[in-house]
Amino acid sequence: MRVLSGIQPTGNLHLGNYLGAIRNWVAMQDEMPAADTASAGKDADSRCFFFLADMHSITVHESREQRLANVRDMAAALVACGIDPDRSVLFNQARVPAHAELCWLLCGTARIGWMNRMTQFKDKAGKNRDSASVGLYVYPVLMAADVLLYQATHVPVGEDQKQHLELTRDIAIKFNTDFGVELFTLPDPIIPRQTARIMSLRDGTAKMSKSDPSDMSRINLTDDTDTIVQKVRKAKTDPEPLPGEAAGLAGRPEAQNLVGIYATLANSTPDAVCAQFAGQGFGAFKPALGDLLAETLAPIRTRFLALRDDHAALDALLDKGAQQAAAAAEPTLRAAYDAIGLMR
Ligand code: TYM
Repeated sequence: MRVLSGIQPTGNLHLGNYLGAIRNWVAMQDEMPAADTASAGKDADSRCFFFLADMHSITVHESREQRLANVRDMAAALVACGIDPDRSVLFNQARVPAHAELCWLLCGTARIGWMNRMTQFKDKAGKNRDSASVGLYVYPVLMAADVLLYQATHVPVGEDQKQHLELTRDIAIKFNTDFGVELFTLPDPIIPRQTARIMSLRDGTAKMSKSDPSDMSRINLTDDTDTIVQKVRKAKTDPEPLPGEAAGLAGRPEAQNLVGIYATLANSTPDAVCAQFAGQGFGAFKPALGDLLAETLAPIRTRFLALRDDHAALDALLDKGAQQAAAAAEPTLRAAYDAIGLMR
């Protein structure tokens, strides 16, 4: 079992990232057997790889200074959430050139028809596709390289990355078949059942996202208690009371989203949350949700604020992670060049 996942270091870590992916990363890291975790920090065979997808982030315009700050900030945020750089390999993609190299090799395998089906490209490019960057189009091939380079078996992600992982499997199968090798492992996406898609607080049909211009649409992991409580209080809802069972939430996307968030944070189920608040309106439910969110996020925020300014410590852990990742990636990269017949 080899776990790998990534996050773009753009903007703040938000509740969607946390509940859709990072919480699972931490759980998978913590489930690693003790014998392996004991040696994981010391050698490149660590079984969890988590990285900052800074090479992917060049598809979003950002100043140089902001980009540099984002990588450290996201590293601090991941550690604050519970990623332990002594047990998992934590690194930024730009420090491991094997990602870009394998991406190019896989560009020979990926088909234009496959790329044209990628819904995230269509969403992000919008109507004016001709002015989208080539990087945005090739983005899923770089993602395939990220995963295949480490022979990842399990990739914990939110629902929006599922299609990219299906593409990764298609690329792996075609490469293995075309070159007659058994080089790449086929990865399985690990998608949480209840929190696969956390929705915007302003629109229950749009996903919570860093790129939403309204900060009120998301809970950032850096928001303080007052901000969290206020954002939840102002979240869009409907005038109906909560039903006695989760089935009664059908057709009420905002209510469904808030109940799902509550259930996850309380380690409960939407049915149990509905039973608890049955017949009550959002005037009663929202303060309870706001308190639960603030209570869950406060320790993460405190740890983040303590870590984020210690640049030397953050740089040192990213240094170590990059070395471990580069060593782990090397055999697969070398085998990929060799399978194609390229002298390296
Ligand atoms: P990114 O940076 O957009 O998001 C990081 C993780 O958070 C999940 N996520 C959500 N989950 C539930 N509800 C939401 N509203 C929500 N918003 C974001 C995402 O599904 C993701 O798991 N392309 C990736 C980064 C990446 C990657 C990889 C991931 C690059 N290479 C290889 C896995 C494996 C991305 O932009 O994620």
